Amino acid sequence: MNLSEIKLISLPKIVDERGNLSFIEQNNHIPFEIKRTYWIYDVPGGEHRGGHAYKTLCEFIVALSGSFDVLVNDGKNEYKFTLNRSYFGLYVPNLIWRELNNFSTNSLCLILASDFYKENDYIRNYSEFLTYEK
Ligand code: TYD
Repeated sequence: MNLSEIKLISLPKIVDERGNLSFIEQNNHIPFEIKRTYWIYDVPGGEHRGGHAYKTLCEFIVALSGSFDVLVNDGKNEYKFTLNRSYFGLYVPNLIWRELNNFSTNSLCLILASDFYKENDYIRNYSEFLTYEK
């Protein structure tokens, strides 16, 4: 996989005086079926999450509140995306090393995933990731 497969996707935004509304439909706005949703919150200042790749899992990451950075690495190049709006998100396919950091106070990170939680799908060691990629 390489960084060109990663996509920043704009989501529908229904602007309303009563408050705005956005939504995500599987296989429509994002290119996979959603089997799991999880969220990261109450992140203490300076902490990071991630620091791994998945063998098969694809994810879609949204900053529902606040902001944070997503560092992505395909084994050759690295790129930083800053997520800070609830109406766009980052599609990250499998075999991309990722780390989330620089969380703002009270940020809320929503992640939609293409499969159930499976520890054996994780690659948690960067040199193992580089070998696996080849
Ligand atoms: P992990 O994915 O390693 O966290 P992050 O990459 O965001 O830093 O998950 C942390 C712990 O939570 C790990 O022990 C597995 C558990 N976990 C689940 O049980 N189910 C899940 O859906 C996720 C994402 C994690």
